[in-house]
Amino acid sequence: MTQSLFSQATDLTGKVVVITGAAGGIGSAMAEAFGQSGATLALTDRTDGHVEMARQLGAQHRAWTFDATNAGAIDDFAKEARAHFGKIDILVNNAGIGLLAPAASLSVADWDLTMAVNLRAPYLFARACAPTMLEAGWGRVITISSQAAIIGIDEHVAYSASKAGLLGMTNCLALEWGPRGVTANCISPTVVETELAKVGWSGEKGEKARAEIPTRRFAQPSEIALAAVFLAGDAAAMINGANLVIDGGFTIR
Ligand SMILES: NC(=O)c1ccc[n+]([C@@H]2O[C@H](COP(=O)([O-])OP(=O)(O)OC[C@H]3O[C@@H](n4cnc5c(N)ncnc54)[C@H](O)[C@@H]3O)[C@@H](O)[C@H]2O)c1
Repeated sequence: MTQSLFSQATDLTGKVVVITGAAGGIGSAMAEAFGQSGATLALTDRTDGHVEMARQLGAQHRAWTFDATNAGAIDDFAKEARAHFGKIDILVNNAGIGLLAPAASLSVADWDLTMAVNLRAPYLFARACAPTMLEAGWGRVITISSQAAIIGIDEHVAYSASKAGLLGMTNCLALEWGPRGVTANCISPTVVETELAKVGWSGEKGEKARAEIPTRRFAQPSEIALAAVFLAGDAAAMINGANLVIDGGFTIR
């Protein structure tokens, strides 16, 4: 049976994808979805949950464990991944943290750590992975931002600032690398039902937030992962510098 035009355009067979934060809720859904789309996975996280997942998904995949606040470790990883796979085609910048506190009392340490993980590391990953994409004239940088990049949310001051920064970063990558076949886009979800979300959105607060979303629910990790697979394929070659908001309509209010 011949493949439909759409499945051809989202078939990632032969592509190598780096997924950061792969041990987490959205990251593990990404690994599964990209694996099912035919891509070879280079999974990274600071914890080891992704190591067994890479093994289970197939012998061609590999996992690396290091802290993304370590700039040297990111460069070493990119060199090793390139040496092992011969190239990197797609980067999914997904690792992130949410350190919540009132704006008047957030510590400098928490501000700095948020920026290091959520904003500096995605740039360093993009910078380290881009050379092989630019040489090939084909690549994708897909960065997970948040609805918090475009609306204010109580106690999210550092998180919001870091996620808004990713939109700015993505605009510049899209402008500089687009002419060379490498697109850069963000995905900005509402609350996604993962461990990270439980920190800020459990109990009554979560119920109230769900009621304010036009679709009346939070997102599932697979819904974010499938959007990333779409952005990674040839079907999305003309989508560059976009921020795909997946929020059930929450931020249109
Ligand atoms: N869950 C949500 O409601 C939601 C909503 C919008 C955006 N996001 C974003 O989606 C991404 C994934 O979130 P999630 O819900 O899957 O969170 P999660 O906590 O389940 O997973 C995040 C992963 O990032 C890894 N990580 C954190 N700090 C790291 C570091 N210093 N070095 C290396 N790895 C590190 C963690 O170990 C974890 O596996 C994040 O960028 C988050 O900000 C999440």
